[in-house]
Amino acid sequence: MIRHFLRDDDLTPAEQAAVLDLAARMKAERYAHKPLAGPRSVAVLFDKQSLRTRISFDAGIAELGGHPLVVDTQVTHFGRGETLADAGRVLSRYVAAIVLRTHGDDRIAEVAAHATVPVVNALTDTYHPCQLLADLLTVRERFGATAGRILTYVGDAANNMAHSYLLAGATAGMHVRIAGPAGFHPDPEIVARAEKIAAGTGGSVRVLVDPVEAVRDAHVVATDTWTSMGQEADGLDRITPFRPYQVGDALLAHAAADVIVLHCLPAHRGEEITDEVLDGPRSAVFDQAENRLHAQKALLTFLLEAST
Ligand code: CP
Ligand code: NVA
Repeated sequence: MIRHFLRDDDLTPAEQAAVLDLAARMKAERYAHKPLAGPRSVAVLFDKQSLRTRISFDAGIAELGGHPLVVDTQVTHFGRGETLADAGRVLSRYVAAIVLRTHGDDRIAEVAAHATVPVVNALTDTYHPCQLLADLLTVRERFGATAGRILTYVGDAANNMAHSYLLAGATAGMHVRIAGPAGFHPDPEIVARAEKIAAGTGGSVRVLVDPVEAVRDAHVVATDTWTSMGQEADGLDRITPFRPYQVGDALLAHAAADVIVLHCLPAHRGEEITDEVLDGPRSAVFDQAENRLHAQKALLTFLLEAST
């Protein structure tokens, strides 16, 4: 069976913990693990812009002894008729794994349905699961564990990060609170899935409107842009309804004394987060960004080992 990572809950709680354990080991022993020696190649494809994902996969695959092939899909045939199914079949003949950042989840599902190597979601409209592995690694580093901690996400609660916090946070046994204005709430089907996972891990899930209630006593407060890639011209007011959700000193006054702040970046400074918070002592944002590298190296290693 080929193991793909299209959504956060494609890893069981035990598997997620194993990937995070391996990520911590790989971080401590930075250049010691070479499962892609050969070198075996990995295709990393982008339908959308990226800085962190692009560079961290490129560097990480090289550190694993592999050969990264990082490609913007505008220069391929993707946009002019080649089907994703055919691309999945063809790429599987060349590479050990396919990493894809794209729009709809149907697109990555189609590649995965026809690929004979692991396919990894490097962000879609609905999920950003690689980011969450980095976030959880950061939480572990700061608090020693994830289980039982309160993880609050405020802002655009309908976006890919909100959905991934629900699923990955519940998988990690955290108490997940997601808060956003009316009209910007998560997909109820994903909330239900997260609730089911939380019931088995000792975590919990709440969706709220009130940002103060959501942040109260939180150990981790996370946010993200109010305008995700592709939403720039959706006609919605993506500023006014979100103002009460800005992560600044006023909101953080309600959090736990040892709260850490996460943001996947890129940040719109002065909108969803203030400079003072992003650059201040509670911010774990740059460790979080670094942890993309270590988490993805561990993920690729896990998927290749687990695929038969
Ligand atoms: N956080 C993140 O995925 O950043 P990029 O869009 O720069 O890859
Ligand atoms: N929600 C953001 C995340 C960027 C890493 C987006 O999809 O643009």
